[in-house]
Amino acid sequence: MSHRLDKRHVVVRTTPWLFVAAAALLLAGCERPPVDTVQIGYRGTGMEQVYNPRLLATQAAVNASPEALPPAPADGPKAKDTFKNVQVLGDQSVAEFTRTMTAMTNWVSPQQGCAYCHAAGEDLSSDKLYTKVVARKMLQMTRHINADWKTHVAETGVTCYTCHRGQPVPAEVWFTTAPQKQATALVGDRAGQNIASRSVAWASLPEDPFTPFLASAQEIRVIGDQALPSGNRQSTKQAEWTYGLMMHMSQSLGVNCTYCHNSRSFAQWDASTPQRATAWHGIRMARDLNQAYMLPLTSVFPASRNGPTGDVAKVNCATCHQGAYKPLYGASLLKAHPELGGVKVEVTAPAAAPAAAAPAAVDSATVFFAVGSSALSDDGAKSLAALAESLKANASAKAVISGYHSASGSLTQNQELAKQRAFAVRDALKAAGIGADRVVLEKPQSAEANLSGEDPKARRVEVALK
Ligand code: HEC
Ligand code: HEC
Ligand code: HEC
Ligand code: HEC
Repeated sequence: MSHRLDKRHVVVRTTPWLFVAAAALLLAGCERPPVDTVQIGYRGTGMEQVYNPRLLATQAAVNASPEALPPAPADGPKAKDTFKNVQVLGDQSVAEFTRTMTAMTNWVSPQQGCAYCHAAGEDLSSDKLYTKVVARKMLQMTRHINADWKTHVAETGVTCYTCHRGQPVPAEVWFTTAPQKQATALVGDRAGQNIASRSVAWASLPEDPFTPFLASAQEIRVIGDQALPSGNRQSTKQAEWTYGLMMHMSQSLGVNCTYCHNSRSFAQWDASTPQRATAWHGIRMARDLNQAYMLPLTSVFPASRNGPTGDVAKVNCATCHQGAYKPLYGASLLKAHPELGGVKVEVTAPAAAPAAAAPAAVDSATVFFAVGSSALSDDGAKSLAALAESLKANASAKAVISGYHSASGSLTQNQELAKQRAFAVRDALKAAGIGADRVVLEKPQSAEANLSGEDPKARRVEVALK
């Protein structure tokens, strides 16, 4: 009897230890206490931020700001009069210009030095290296952010360092993911779920919420605004895309959902924090940067730099924020570099765009694309240049753009790609000087059913003057 009791005792004693060991294994991926909680909303709303001091210490190191270079004298000859090929920074004095070049080197290519953008043995005015062409566009993009997106970046602004942090390729960029392989058509489209992707903080959510929301402008808001069903056709699946983006936003800023929302109602703006409005502008800004600056650079980058579907690396919240609620915890390097702010700039064509030839007037163009790609071919760019000339000659005409996609494969992905291609065409027309109000984008259409996915004719965008 006592023997038995003893035995039972042993079982009771050991079980908790097994549990602890198992629990420790399971929780190894979670954050170890203690954590700090800061209340940011009314008591009882659960609007709290949970911080882990150890993670904060790592974050602080990533987000430390470098020292600014001493200012340079503004007098003396201007860069545009001294050098041969200065298109953006021409109004700086030579001394200021040299200081900017030094800062850019420190921010983007400290290891490689000036040679990262200026080919050895070539004149400094040469645009031979793609990195220099990209850097010029980046100068324009940085000015555009600081001048036109104060709704998001305020007076703090950004410099090259905000994204680059001493590396030629920023630590956080994104590409459109390649279409997932489907075992059989019966399984359905997984929409990038269940693959534990870092982009959505390892949640079982669509791994690429960026293509629909940060490259194109699909609807993020999914919740009906009435108690009873009244025409809101948003599905659970659509809600999952929204949640994917929200996980990314929270993770990029190192905050919880309640930094922006009162969880009683995620939809209601008057119950949300002011930060949610800033984030709203941030979403629009990221879209604009990707569409107006990154996507047009696609053909400038060597193919090896581009993603699995041939697209260029793009910007999301993490590119600037890198885990901090404000990039570099709000430190402003812009103040020491006024040349990167305050100048409103027009979006101009990437240097690689072929010069506009002016053949006989044309009233339509058909542009074909490679499989999975929305990059404009040289032929495509030429026919668009011709079309742009016709548009300029005929001030009342508009360009109507329709993207076609193949009838086979995943519909969502095909439509997205068709849209990206239509955007590429629109951007090329814009770059050729055609105002946004003269370009009409139509909904992507499925190509004729007899065109298989491999038929190049299915992968096209048609532009007609109307
Ligand atoms: C990250 C890329 C990058 C790095 C690194 C870089 N430059 Fe530049 N450089 C540019 C760009 C872009 C321009 C053209 C600027 C413009 O169009 O306003 C330029 C132009 C120049 C010019 C003008 C040449 C001419 O005749 O048109 C000089 C001089 C120059 N850089 C010197 C330097 C020096 C010296 C360094 C190293 C301290 C350096 N650059 C590092 C991108 C870079
Ligand atoms: C909003 C974020 C952001 C800012 C600000 C920014 N960049 Fe970039 N930059 C990017 C992204 C994204 C890429 C694409 C990454 C890649 O190269 O694949 C890139 C690429 C580059 C490259 C090409 C690197 C390579 O090897 O392919 C150069 C050079 C560069 N940037 C220079 C600059 C300079 C100079 C500035 C400041 C005037 C600047 N960038 C500001 C986001 C930024
Ligand atoms: C940095 C601020 C921010 C954070 C953090 C954030 N959100 Fe959002 N959320 C927004 C903004 C802004 C919108 C509206 C986007 C738009 O309209 O373009 C939104 C929209 C939503 C919507 C759709 C509401 C509707 O009307 O349909 C849901 C649901 C949502 N968020 C849930 C979450 C969840 C869950 C989290 C945490 C994982 C989270 N959000 C974290 C800013 C944030
Ligand atoms: C080009 C760089 C850049 C990108 C991209 C960017 N941000 Fe920001 N963001 C900033 C800067 C700079 C500030 C600081 C502005 C200030 O000092 O008020 C900021 C501030 C914020 C704030 C306010 C924080 C506070 O407590 O006041 C929120 C919220 C925010 N960003 C959300 C986002 C979200 C969400 C995205 C992606 C959709 C995003 N940001 C993308 C640069 C960026």
